[in-house]
Amino acid sequence: MSPNHCFGSMMFFLSFTILESTARHMVPTEVGFTARLIHRDSPLSPFYDHVMSYTAWIEATIHRSRSRLNYLYYNMLSKDTLDNDLSLSPTLVHEGGEYLMSFNIGNPPSQVMGFADTSNGLIWVQCSDCNSQCEPEKGPFTKFLPSKSFTYEMEPCGSNVCNSLTGFQTCNSSDRSCKYRLVYEDNSETSGNLSSDSFSFDTTDGKHVDVGYLNFGCSEAPLTGGMQSYMGSVGLNQTPLSLISQLGIKKFSYCLVPFNLGSTSKMYFGSLPVTSGGQTPLLYPNSDAYYVKVLGISVGADDPNLEGVFDVYDVRDGWIIDSGTTYSSLETDAFDRLLAKFITLPDLQQKKEDPRNRFELCFAANANDMETFPGVTVHFDGAELILNVESTFVKIEDDGIICLALLRSGSPVSILGNFQLQNCHVGYDLEAQVVSFAPVDCADS
Ligand SMILES: *[C@@H]1O[C@H](CO)[C@@H](O)[C@H](O)[C@H]1NC(C)=O
Ligand SMILES: *[C@@H]1O[C@H](CO)[C@@H](O)[C@H](O)[C@H]1NC(C)=O
Repeated sequence: MSPNHCFGSMMFFLSFTILESTARHMVPTEVGFTARLIHRDSPLSPFYDHVMSYTAWIEATIHRSRSRLNYLYYNMLSKDTLDNDLSLSPTLVHEGGEYLMSFNIGNPPSQVMGFADTSNGLIWVQCSDCNSQCEPEKGPFTKFLPSKSFTYEMEPCGSNVCNSLTGFQTCNSSDRSCKYRLVYEDNSETSGNLSSDSFSFDTTDGKHVDVGYLNFGCSEAPLTGGMQSYMGSVGLNQTPLSLISQLGIKKFSYCLVPFNLGSTSKMYFGSLPVTSGGQTPLLYPNSDAYYVKVLGISVGADDPNLEGVFDVYDVRDGWIIDSGTTYSSLETDAFDRLLAKFITLPDLQQKKEDPRNRFELCFAANANDMETFPGVTVHFDGAELILNVESTFVKIEDDGIICLALLRSGSPVSILGNFQLQNCHVGYDLEAQVVSFAPVDCADS
């Protein structure tokens, strides 16, 4: 932890202003900062496993993509009155997300981490209520100790903030504190005290930027079951307690460096995001996730008449853009039509089975051949996302097999995942309620 916490960094951000306020929950009027996104499998992550093989890595990313799909679908069903004729797999546990953000809570500040999550609202971290008499911490996770921060407060029952957790809050009748309980589809859960304390974020230039007091969930540690590797969450959706809503900012964006580069990616907040490029309207502003409308998908770069475009509809007529998913999932009809389109293309090498049945469409080819593979364009309402070959195909470990890096959803939900958004600056403009896609070299931006 750097001792010159907070003040050194303020001058650096030109547009950084905070409204003077005597209220504890002061909200900065305009905050601009760039946070590092650490991929959970990168050497900077506490989950880093230096002996993990490439095969195991592919398998783990597919597993997490599927469990995340399950989670989002479950979440959507429990909120809506949709018919549920699909059984969810109870063996898929919720593992949190893909990109970690580090930030600091309290006075003196302690550094914690949480998954950047565009499909959730609450900010929560693991807390511990033990002091020095506790056993030393096990595992790579840093827990927040509320008793060590002199600015920590618990949120009382009945406050607006507590009430905004509709449906999953309870009141402790003896000390009138606001409790929350989040239950995931595999019956894992986390519960704790809705709290507030001062926050600062670690920025890409190694500084900290103070954002004032924020509400967050202080979850009882240790987490159990599938939650063990969850660690914490930075909710980025449009609900009242998300980081975005609490900061009162209207824009954020992120740019993910290609998966084969070990470097960190960046997330931009407030006055700094890039929201250039084609824009598509956000659907369902009151939902937990960011939905966009997809009109179709085409295969091959030169397709001026959009030949081969087909309609893709899911249950909500939209796709979820989700920061917690690696491989995109397409609902079954769309997926089948996309596969059918691919195998009619003359340029592709011979079709081949994935020896481990992970991906459905693979070709006998080596990495060099990939350059000749056709690109895929996703046609959003008002914008196009042209996927380069690296965002469309993945080399599996067996020499000479390249697979289409997309999954069959098995549910009516389609998700646009991070693998497909490599080297794309994804911008969220919540004032205009649009999402934008700009192809860039994320390592340079
Ligand atoms: C409710 O508050 C009392 C007094 O602070 C505390 O001892 C108890 O553990 C709390 N109950 C829960 C479920 O947190
Ligand atoms: C949550 O609050 C209760 C009092 O209501 C306290 O006993 C408990 O230790 C707190 N839990 C954490 C993790 O801080």
